[in-house]
Amino acid sequence: MILLPRADEELEIPFVASGGMADARSLVAALTLGADGINMGTRFIATKEAPVHENVKQAIVAATELDTRLIMRPLRNTERVLRNIAVDRLLEKESSLGQDLKFDDIIEEVAGVYPKIMMNGDMDAGAWSCGMVAGLIHDIPTCEELINRIMSDAEVLIRHRLAGMIK
Ligand SMILES: Cc1cc2nc3c(=O)[nH]c(=O)nc-3n(C[C@H](O)[C@H](O)[C@H](O)COP(=O)(O)O)c2cc1C
Repeated sequence: MILLPRADEELEIPFVASGGMADARSLVAALTLGADGINMGTRFIATKEAPVHENVKQAIVAATELDTRLIMRPLRNTERVLRNIAVDRLLEKESSLGQDLKFDDIIEEVAGVYPKIMMNGDMDAGAWSCGMVAGLIHDIPTCEELINRIMSDAEVLIRHRLAGMIK
């Protein structure tokens, strides 16, 4: 709500809104706040075409907005990830080691884990990026279905919900 209008005030080039975008509501809101489009990370992973293991897609659909955690803040390398056994273990290390935490202490949970998760579907192999927007993702459509739905829902929002404001 703050950064998009601020970007609009400062920039003379087109820009897209990124983070938490999933549907027509996100698109219409982002355009209203001054952006020229949206970027979707987590939403596109839960699509038929996404080249990741089915377990990853199902984990996103199953997750709510309460199921992500911020990790590596003490190392100034903050990442939002889906909570799992490895993330709980990592957060336990962060809280017990405090200021003494080093990358080496959490290497097992973060280094080289992506192939195990994304290709093998081993969902507890480590920490992997996932937006809080998972709470708004309830299905695994094709990209075409997703984009068509966003565009037709956006039209309804604009024509009915927003146009209704004008006398
Ligand atoms: C699986 C995955 C891996 C990502 N890896 C990185 C990364 O290595 N570096 C980075 O800056 N952002 C990374 N991101 C964040 C995306 O670049 C993007 O900013 C974010 O996903 C947009 O927010 P959204 O997921 O709520 O749509 C990653 C996101 C996902 C879902």
